[in-house]
Amino acid sequence: MQYTRFGRTGLQVPRLTLGTMTFGGQVDEPTAIAIMDAAFEGGIAMFDTADMYPPSGYPERQGATDEIIGRWLAASPGRRDDVLVATKCFFPTGRRRWESGNSRHNVIRSLDESLRRLGTDHVDLFQVHSWDPGTPIDETLQVMDDVVRQGKVRYVGCSNVLAYQLARATGRAEVLGTVRFESVQPRYNLLFREFEREMFPLCAEEQLAVIPYNPLAGGFLSGKHRPESDASGTRFESGDQGARYRERYWHERAFAAVEQITALAAEAGVSTATLALQWVLANPVITSPIVGASRPEQLADALAAERTPLDRELKARLDELTHEYRFGDAPR
Ligand SMILES: NC(=O)c1ccc[n+]([C@@H]2O[C@H](COP(=O)([O-])OP(=O)(O)OC[C@H]3O[C@@H](n4cnc5c(N)ncnc54)[C@H](OP(=O)(O)O)[C@@H]3O)[C@@H](O)[C@H]2O)c1
Repeated sequence: MQYTRFGRTGLQVPRLTLGTMTFGGQVDEPTAIAIMDAAFEGGIAMFDTADMYPPSGYPERQGATDEIIGRWLAASPGRRDDVLVATKCFFPTGRRRWESGNSRHNVIRSLDESLRRLGTDHVDLFQVHSWDPGTPIDETLQVMDDVVRQGKVRYVGCSNVLAYQLARATGRAEVLGTVRFESVQPRYNLLFREFEREMFPLCAEEQLAVIPYNPLAGGFLSGKHRPESDASGTRFESGDQGARYRERYWHERAFAAVEQITALAAEAGVSTATLALQWVLANPVITSPIVGASRPEQLADALAAERTPLDRELKARLDELTHEYRFGDAPR
């Protein structure tokens, strides 16, 4: 596993991060443990979670993902020090009005609950899961500064923000003299490229780490789905999440693009999923894509992508093939 610098910080991180969002929801605990074992063995020593995972679990199962990770971390002595742990707050994690958002109250509450469930005294990266229009950014930056000084958090980041919001937050941190968001976690893949326009140039200029989610479009970019299939047992199965993912990717032109990507992958002698991840990794602004899995074997494609860089000419062909996806809708 190659390592790279986490933005402008001194932290070295692996070039792949493991997403854990399916744990305790779509994926049961024994399978989640097997996925973490396989990831760790492959060198994926950074895990991303959130206070509200599994996303389909509100409110009964919320926090189950952290608890599973916590049990994996506790299973062997010293393991906590062998992986970097990233988490997030923002989405509702309780029925009271103050149990969501990026307020001082909710940041402290969410972080303390996450540390308890994970069984650790600190997280390496604490991210706001979304921009919060209901909280002044100064309030969020000041509480982030406090939790870093208290030793509960090493670095602070953000997710699902627009470039102007991140630019403003970066400027305010400079003025206030607080910690700043050192990383951003946007959606990014061959079928969703709009952050190339404004966000990525900002990240390059400000030396912000970029750890994108959904690099395989939730499995759509593995090429395994067919328009007529019911996608049972996968992310695209019916239900709230399935409906959201179908709205994002289950379209005729996206199927046509995947077909062409699959043909290029066959020419290159790799799987479609590997090629899709190689393309994400080939963007110099990308620090560490967050890969998900519902079975440990699925990680083999991601690990192959990390081992083999994408040929420059093939990257240009993929850029061209998916050019229309540079100008999508605002992130949901
Ligand atoms: N900040 C945010 O708002 C946000 C949003 C979403 C995710 N995330 C984070 O990013 C992580 C990764 O996101 P993601 O799960 O959407 O990433 P992804 O890598 O695009 O999709 C992963 C899914 O694709 C399928 N898959 C993976 N490898 C495969 C292979 N080799 N062959 C066929 N199918 C394969 C699996 O689903 P099936 O087996 O079900 O098909 C797997 O769960 C999450 O766990 C979470 O930590 C953050």
